[in-house]
Amino acid sequence: MDNKELLAGIDQAIKDFYASTNPVNHLRESILYSVDAGGKRIRPLFFLRTVQAFGLTLTEEHYKVASTVELIHTSSLIHDDLPAMDDDDYRRGRLTNHKVYGEAQAILAGDVLLLDPYNILARTKIPSQQIVSLVLELSLASGSFGMVAGQVLDMDGEKRELNLADLKAIHALKTGKMLTFPFVAGGIVAGVSKEVLEQLRSLGEHVGLAFQIRDDIKDVTADFSEIGKTPGKDMVHDKATYIKFYGLDGAKKALSEELNQARLIVANLTESVDLDPVNLLELIDQLEV
Ligand code: IPE
Ligand code: IPE
Ligand code: MG
Ligand code: MG
Ligand code: MG
Repeated sequence: MDNKELLAGIDQAIKDFYASTNPVNHLRESILYSVDAGGKRIRPLFFLRTVQAFGLTLTEEHYKVASTVELIHTSSLIHDDLPAMDDDDYRRGRLTNHKVYGEAQAILAGDVLLLDPYNILARTKIPSQQIVSLVLELSLASGSFGMVAGQVLDMDGEKRELNLADLKAIHALKTGKMLTFPFVAGGIVAGVSKEVLEQLRSLGEHVGLAFQIRDDIKDVTADFSEIGKTPGKDMVHDKATYIKFYGLDGAKKALSEELNQARLIVANLTESVDLDPVNLLELIDQLEV
């Protein structure tokens, strides 16, 4: 199965959910405007590849779980772009949600995308204990222990001097936790032991940190057609990034180090459990710049 097939399954799960519920029409339109804009879907892909790596055959229920992390992630992007936050005009190659629908509706579309995933999880046909664990992990990754907390620290960082430990903590929270969820969730669905789950968590943390370092690098090296958002914004807002602390070469080195740590954990896992690492490692390799 190539990534294309997985991406189609994720999109179908999202489409099915919003077809089966009945939100106010223009609310649905503004939600789908951002969701359908063609993000990389890296978080749901990592989840699906983790599930497969443990030998499970993917079902519709797995795609539903995969969609939940993508919806919350999209919510975080809509809110991140608001004038009160990063004030961005473009996202995923199109105008940002608030530019098209206005700020009030963009805030509300973001709200919905934070809440609906729990509806999806609650209705997923997998063992109820797994659902409870997934609800807990998704809420930890996104709420006051995760992404939102990181966003608050990121905004604070524009106003004060930070040290390297602060920077790492911001990245780990604002981006790292949402990228850790897919690996942990994959382990939960595959029914792995506590020890393996903790190794998956650590794997996700390295991938998550790598992912934000990569995003910081792309902000200075890529053009609009590649990233679908305005480049060079971090410097304008004086954001705490790996580039600011290490320079471009240092940031690239830090990215490679994190990815190597991730590869090492995958290798260790294959020694203790029955795990096919090929597709997982391929996705990790795609994060090199
Ligand atoms: C961008 O995330 C914001 C970060 C957390 C770094 P992605 O790079 O995954 O954005 P999309 O989903 O592909 O648009
Ligand atoms: C975003 O970090 C993190 C979240 C959306 C939670 P950035 O602000 O660097 O993301 P981009 O560059 O706008 O995508
Ligand atoms: Mg931001
Ligand atoms: Mg931003
Ligand atoms: Mg960025």
